[in-house]
Amino acid sequence: MLKNIIAPSILSADFSKLGQEIKDVEKAGADWIHVDVMDGHFVPNITIGPIVVKSIRPVTKLPIDVHLMIKSPEKYIESFVKAGADFITFHSEIEKDPKEVIKLIRYYKKKVGISIKPKTDLISIENVFSMVDMVLIMTVEPGFGGQGFILDCLPKIEELRKIFKKDIEVDGGVNEMTARDCLKSGANVLVAGSYVFGAKDYALAINKLRG
Ligand code: DX5
Ligand code: ZN
Repeated sequence: MLKNIIAPSILSADFSKLGQEIKDVEKAGADWIHVDVMDGHFVPNITIGPIVVKSIRPVTKLPIDVHLMIKSPEKYIESFVKAGADFITFHSEIEKDPKEVIKLIRYYKKKVGISIKPKTDLISIENVFSMVDMVLIMTVEPGFGGQGFILDCLPKIEELRKIFKKDIEVDGGVNEMTARDCLKSGANVLVAGSYVFGAKDYALAINKLRG
């Protein structure tokens, strides 16, 4: 039985006190810390890189779940591994053969995830299901926190759970309501940025997501 995992995305944290924010969500019951990396090419936004993972590594014992929304993930795997990433997820829509990127992450003995955007079908990643530890289903167009959950993505989660028995992570617009739908559809790892870091009480928000 897979454990339900809550992974707050620091994209919505107060970056002027990022270390404290991470300690607070850890104390509030978060299971993983989700780090959204964007390069301004794969998605129309630029966020953070390995240096931020390196700086938060000593602050938390929680696994750091890095989500690479970048054009050439293969160029940065080593630096994220050295910075302290535990899980590295990249997007199937990149130019390079995903199998090469998976092999590289495996070489560093880190957990591997593959992610698909809302408009990308499951069929495009079926050939790597046996090679990855997790599939990340985007429920918003990647690039920004605080967007609305795309309900049309729920059948994709249900379809995936029928054929994929490992971790299914959902990311984008997850809140108390949509978390129910995601868990019912078979997801077990919930990323939430604005819902957690926008809350007054992080523990209450995390418990509501856990249901
Ligand atoms: C969007 C990011 C998501 C986002 C989640 O591209 O991948 O992780 O930060 O933020 P919320 O939970 O606010 O939609
Ligand atoms: Zn993310």
